[in-house]
Order: sequence, then structure tokens, then C-alpha cells
Amino acid sequence: MNQDILKKTVARLTNPPKGILAADESNNTCNKRFEKLSIPTTEEKRREYRELLITTPSIEMYISGIILFDETIRQSTKDGKSFTSILQSKGIDIGIKVDGGLEDFPSSLDEKITQGLEGLPERLKEYKTMGATFTKWRSVVNISDTLPTDACLRENADRMAKYALACQAEDIVPIIEPEVLLDGNHSIERCFEVTSHNLDILFSELSKQGVFIPGIILKTSMVISGKDNEVPIDPHKVADMTLKALQRHVPNDIGGIVFLSGGQPDEQATLHLNLMHNMGSLLWNLTFSFSRALQNPVLKHWSEKQDDIAGAQALLLQMAKINSQASMGQL
Ligand code: 13P
Repeated sequence: MNQDILKKTVARLTNPPKGILAADESNNTCNKRFEKLSIPTTEEKRREYRELLITTPSIEMYISGIILFDETIRQSTKDGKSFTSILQSKGIDIGIKVDGGLEDFPSSLDEKITQGLEGLPERLKEYKTMGATFTKWRSVVNISDTLPTDACLRENADRMAKYALACQAEDIVPIIEPEVLLDGNHSIERCFEVTSHNLDILFSELSKQGVFIPGIILKTSMVISGKDNEVPIDPHKVADMTLKALQRHVPNDIGGIVFLSGGQPDEQATLHLNLMHNMGSLLWNLTFSFSRALQNPVLKHWSEKQDDIAGAQALLLQMAKINSQASMGQL
């Protein structure tokens, strides 16, 4: 492992004024989003849409890296230029989702574990030849009165550590994404408790297995109440409790921290990030790695006016700019 390469990649990805665009929706997830907007769910439509995102003029001003799905990293523009060559020419780091999605956790049927370790070293080698400098692995944490179980958190942490080590062996930066889901009616306090506990388990496992902490990026959900909780969301409380969880439960020498948007309304995710940067100086880079909170308006516009690529791209640039400002507390 070359620690210097890993640290430099983390810095490129998370240094202000930039953040990461997550465009690694699996075909299933992408198709679900297309279906809602009556876009045909074909490989060609997914390619066209990703071409729109990747070729957005000046997007590199605000976006440091783009996470792709396996289908996308192999695709090209309609003029025959590979997506990877376009990203490299813009100085945007190429990321790739390498987990294989969720599977049932046998000891607790309401929970999921993330699969994908099988064959991972070989896949990483291939992605590296395609220019990938970072990867993503997502696990999910369900909150209820009885969940999550420690057994499930530990199994996911063990797999994440093995994934991270495999990436670092190739000088590829692993993004570690334990997403605490918004589903349910839990309070923000309960989310704080679960997020904190999970981070403790995760970082203790990463250290135990010898993961180089300055050479990873944590992609986390914000500390927020469940979407069925009726208490109105207090943005200051979200920002404050999220920072407290990160400050108390993430090692200070972590390379960088980025957020997923998780289904929060777009503006709310942006506002929370901005507020966190107005609460004093932070120990680590803290920016965005949104999918929906960057792409929602873009996809909607494109679904309504598929010929207006420039209009959809202008919206993406605008969303990226606003979130870049939020990542510096400048909104
Ligand atoms: P959202 O911002 O839509 O939550 O997606 C981020 C992501 O990468 C989920 O894995």
C-alpha cells in the first residue's frame, strides 16, 4: 500500500470547494427512478443519462469525483469517447461501486448484510486499469425498537474492513458507507445513539484489521429522525447532533467525511451541510457525495424535455455549485 497516493487521492476528493457526485445507482435503482418519470428502462437510456451528467460543461469546478456503476464505467458517449477518458480529461477522479448489494442476514431476518467480497481483488485490478482511483461499499442499518443487532453491525464492519484492505492494497481509496436508513418513526436521539454505536463498532474493526484510516473516506448519513416521525425537523439540531456523532466516534485522522442525502428533500440536505460548516472549524474535510440531492431536478427536467440536454446540464451545474458553497458554509 502506498500511503502517500491514498492520502493525495482523499485530499483531491474532499478538499474544498468540491464534493463527489454519486452516479452509481445499480440498474435496478436507476430503472426505478426512470419508471417513476416514465423514462424507458433500457441500457441505452441509462447511457444517455449518464453521458449527460459526465459531459456537463465546467462540472469539474465543483465535482472532484464521480462514482459509477459497473455498466457505466464501460460505456462511451454517442461519439465513441469512453466515459473514463472524458472524466480523466476533466481531472475528475473515477470511482466505482464494488459492493454486490444486500443479502439477508441469517441470524436476524429484518436486517441485511452487504455482499461482494468474492472476486473483489481481481475486479479491483481491472477497475484500476480502467483508471479508477476510488471505490464505494454501502451497508444499511435499520432502526426499530429492537434493531440494529450488534451481530449484524459486526458482520457488516468485518466485511467493510476486508473490502477496505483489498482496495488499499491496490492504492485505491475505499469509501465506506454505512447508511442509517430514514425508514421508520424513530427520534433523532435514537438515530444519534445508533449512528454513534455503529461508528464505534466500525472503526474498532477497521483499526483491528489494519486499515490505514487517513486513506479512507467515510460516507455517512446525517443524524436525523425517521421519515415517519411527526416531530418537525430542526435543522440546527440535525447539524449539531451529526457533528457530535462524528466528532466523538470517528478517529481524528480520518482522510475525509462525505454525506449521502438519503432521501431528505434536496434543499434540506444542502442546508444541513451548510449549517455544520457554520458551527466552528472542523478536524476533517466534510463535503457531499449526494446522488438524489444533486440529480433529482436534473432527471426530472430531462424526463420532460429529453432534447434539452443543455438545460438539464445547467441544472446539474447549479446543484453542484450550491452544494459546493454549502460545503464551505457559504450559502
Ligand atoms: P443519496 O444521496 O441519494 O442518498 O445517494 C447516495 C448514495 O451513494 C447511496 O448509496
